[in-house]
Amino acid sequence: MSASDFQPLQGMSDLGFPEILLWQRLEAQARDVLSSYGFQEVRTPVLERTSVFVRSLGEGTDVVQKEMYTFEDRGGRSVSLRPEGTAGTIRHICAGGPDLQDARLFYFGPMFRCERPQAGRKRQFHQLGVEVVGPALAMADAECIALQTDLLKAWGLVDFRVEVHTRGLPEDAVAVRDGLIGALAPVRDRLCEDCRRRMDTHPLRILDCKQESCRALLDGVPPITSFMGEAARTYLDQVLRLLERSGIPARLNPRLVRGLDYYLHTIWEVTHTALGAQDALAGGGRYRISVGGREVEGVGFAIGIERVVAALVQRGLDPASLRVPPQVWLVALGDAAREECFLLAHALRSEGWRVGMDLAGRSMKAQMRAAHRAGAPLVVIRGETELQEGVAVIKSMADGRERRVPASGLAAALRA
Ligand code: HAM
Repeated sequence: MSASDFQPLQGMSDLGFPEILLWQRLEAQARDVLSSYGFQEVRTPVLERTSVFVRSLGEGTDVVQKEMYTFEDRGGRSVSLRPEGTAGTIRHICAGGPDLQDARLFYFGPMFRCERPQAGRKRQFHQLGVEVVGPALAMADAECIALQTDLLKAWGLVDFRVEVHTRGLPEDAVAVRDGLIGALAPVRDRLCEDCRRRMDTHPLRILDCKQESCRALLDGVPPITSFMGEAARTYLDQVLRLLERSGIPARLNPRLVRGLDYYLHTIWEVTHTALGAQDALAGGGRYRISVGGREVEGVGFAIGIERVVAALVQRGLDPASLRVPPQVWLVALGDAAREECFLLAHALRSEGWRVGMDLAGRSMKAQMRAAHRAGAPLVVIRGETELQEGVAVIKSMADGRERRVPASGLAAALRA
């Protein structure tokens, strides 16, 4: 057996104690915030027909071209592990008929992208996402960004930055493409190899090239909003104004494009200073997706939970500190007392107490150590003598004080 027999696949992780405590807390806090905005949960399958993702995210996107786990099932159908949650949620909405046309849905679950693993980039990661179906309304987009900000704040994140931009309307696409190609033509030869290719395939993606040399060349390029019609610019201004009036600190980033094809109008990204190179905590935007001849418009976002956890831990949060200790630990001396304690634990738990005990009949010292390790504030001790007298000893772990109480009144005594 080699060490790798115990490891999950590269880029994938087990989630266990103590980190899982933080995940559980994030999820519970998120549910509170989401319910205050009137969202319902949806759980779609992690495996879908490949076409669900290709038609939504776009054939030419990096996610579809390079990152999907795609394979044939036993029936020869092409299926893929979901790389994100929007496509499946919209498929679900279309399957549900007109009732869901103004749906406000959220999801929390694993996503899969076969990227090169590095710090902050996993092959299985988790997203909390929301999708709000409905026509283009600046207020709906601003509400979505407000919700996202409220979630991050509820989790205790403060040092995040929200950057907003627009992809314009579909009718702006040709003018934006031509305008950008025209503006970049004089410097084409000085762009990196990827960007020279993008000039022919995806000129917008040149805007978010990470190469310093390309970034410097882009300084001379007019903002793409100048190639868009009035409607797209007015819409973006409305979103920014609503955010400002709501006290949400969002910044216009004229370089932001986002890597998925379904977007139109508002797009945004949230970054965090604690995260290093992979600093995107979340991304979202307004989109139009066509499913089986139907066009569905909506707005949504997804937050990367691993990155939220990383940012919180980086700021000093210790997941182990979230452990909820037992309220009482039962210590038994002798077989008869152990059986009585077993029954007592059952009775106390059915009254709602968090109770721990050692079932293996170890020494008093070992049992007290276990109580201490578990962090129980009270210990109930019962031996042969206590059984005969019908009493139990309650010991406070904080000051060592002991009290003998009748066994029948134990729950009341513990409460006191
Ligand atoms: P996305 O920007 O591709 O958007 O992903 C959203 C977030 O998921 C990222 O900001 C990041 O925190 C996290 N994430 C993405 N890839 C990885 C990875 N390999 N490892 C760890 N975390 C990762 C979407 O997925 C869109 N569906 C968002 C959306 C919803 N737009 C509209 N509705």
